[in-house]
Amino acid sequence: MTDDSLISWLTALDALPERLERELPGRWSGLEFLPSVDSTNGRLLDSEELVSYGFRVCVAREQTAGRGRRGRSWVSSGGSGLTFSLARALVPGEAPAPALTLAIGVGLARGLFRCGLDGFGFKWPNDLVTRNGAKLAGILVEARPGAPGRPPALVAGVGLNRRGARGLGLDRAAADLADLGGEPAPDLPDLLYAILVELVSAWEAFAREGLGSVLDDYRRLDHLFGQQVQVVESGLEGIAEGVDPVDGALLLRRPEGLQRLYSGDVSVRRVDRG
Ligand code: BTN
Repeated sequence: MTDDSLISWLTALDALPERLERELPGRWSGLEFLPSVDSTNGRLLDSEELVSYGFRVCVAREQTAGRGRRGRSWVSSGGSGLTFSLARALVPGEAPAPALTLAIGVGLARGLFRCGLDGFGFKWPNDLVTRNGAKLAGILVEARPGAPGRPPALVAGVGLNRRGARGLGLDRAAADLADLGGEPAPDLPDLLYAILVELVSAWEAFAREGLGSVLDDYRRLDHLFGQQVQVVESGLEGIAEGVDPVDGALLLRRPEGLQRLYSGDVSVRRVDRG
């Protein structure tokens, strides 16, 4: 779809709910497509409609206050980015697990592979990046506590640059689907279809079996593995040795031993010397 008008955008997405229901029956609790919203994550976190047995999806053509990790904002421009969230209520006894972000990252990557796209990796804790480290997508998982009549829930939001990443005026290297190898990027409905199917499958497997369910693919995608990395906040450096297979902590080899980093606490960058 090259026409980015609102009407073509909404029309193109018409058939999506039925296609998703056919592939993963009974797993969806509503899909909405909005011309504009402050934040798709925020909208689902406020939703009264969340249930534990199905995923609710909110896709927005434009976000006016898209949010990123650690209080940053997520900038995208109407129609040329893909911004959406999916959410479900927690089942009784289920606790939010930070490693879900890694499973969502693997699901997102599988969705892109399914569309014939290639040439990207996952940069712990929440980015899809090209081989040279330019950011292609970001993931933001947020939890809401329970309240009377409103179960606790988790939302996973994805911002993916489809086109025009360099026109966004970001202060860091950004890439879009046109920068990848493989097939030309598919139309929006096909892209969203493939990604949603893979995200829900990865989330369900993670909920049943934990991080082990996606670990092989995670290791193949790991952009930091074996690299010298630096913690942005402290300057601490070490060699990245993958993630803890249970809680998803980044394992950093230092002269004094293995250091564990948790995604809530730090950001890291690869140190490319020479
Ligand atoms: C990051 O890179 O820090 C995470 C970015 C996540 C952005 C997505 S866009 C859809 C969803 N709604 C939001 O407000 N944020 C996420």
